[in-house]
Amino acid sequence: MSGWKLGVLGGSGLYELPGLTGARWETIESPWGAPSDAVLTGELEGVAVVFLPRHGRGHRLLPGEINTRANIDVLKRAGCTDILSISAVGSLREDLPPGAFAVAAQYVDRTRQRPASFFGGGVPAHVSLADPVCPRLSGLAARALRDGGIEAFEDATYLAMEGPQFSTRAESRLYRSWGCDVIGMTAMPEARLAREAELPYANVCMVTDYDCWRESEAPVGIEEVLAVMRRNVDLARQMLRRLLASLPAVREPSPIDTCLDTAILGDPKSAGPET
Ligand code: ADE
Repeated sequence: MSGWKLGVLGGSGLYELPGLTGARWETIESPWGAPSDAVLTGELEGVAVVFLPRHGRGHRLLPGEINTRANIDVLKRAGCTDILSISAVGSLREDLPPGAFAVAAQYVDRTRQRPASFFGGGVPAHVSLADPVCPRLSGLAARALRDGGIEAFEDATYLAMEGPQFSTRAESRLYRSWGCDVIGMTAMPEARLAREAELPYANVCMVTDYDCWRESEAPVGIEEVLAVMRRNVDLARQMLRRLLASLPAVREPSPIDTCLDTAILGDPKSAGPET
């Protein structure tokens, strides 16, 4: 056993994973409520994989309707050691055209109405988010992209917006002036909650459009986003297989495996949803 079990949070289409052996859908319950769907478990490239369709099969959920606490909790309960998040984003940079891939390293969180912590309710904890993603898994994901001939923009800053509407032009220009590279609706609070669950997290972004800052372009629409995603889903599958094949034979601890030992102020045993 390599010790790796990779949780994959991804969009529709990705859960058709050719080569996945022992595949079966498994319903895992969470005290945090209903996750987006059952999980698809199996082995790919000899590594245990747990796939959770972020929006549910058939894409039922808006970004703001996703119960991310339950999703992360279910991946933890499934025994995942790490999480790879694959998500569609808009581009805030001229040199990141639709069809390109990026790997996020930092986030600016502008989501507004999503439960964003497992803590509270008598259990105060403050984990560090200074470096929110796992450098090891992010580096392996970037290499898996490049080895497949896909250019990977690394160390991207991801602006997480509430949606479901796309941005106004003023917002889009503002986010560019802040130094953000890509914009999306799903990686927050995922990255925060993965950190609190002590699950090293990496985020591969598929650029589907230039956001509306680019005056020469028609404003982004969902048809365009879906069309690019359909084209890129196969590249994302290839990246996943190469990433799994490249994992070290034995999983050494990640640089960010733990963070709760110094973060919880109360009694950690009492952490959990209020009943
Ligand atoms: N997802 C894909 N494209 C997007 C955009 N332009 N803004 C927010 N989320 C997106």
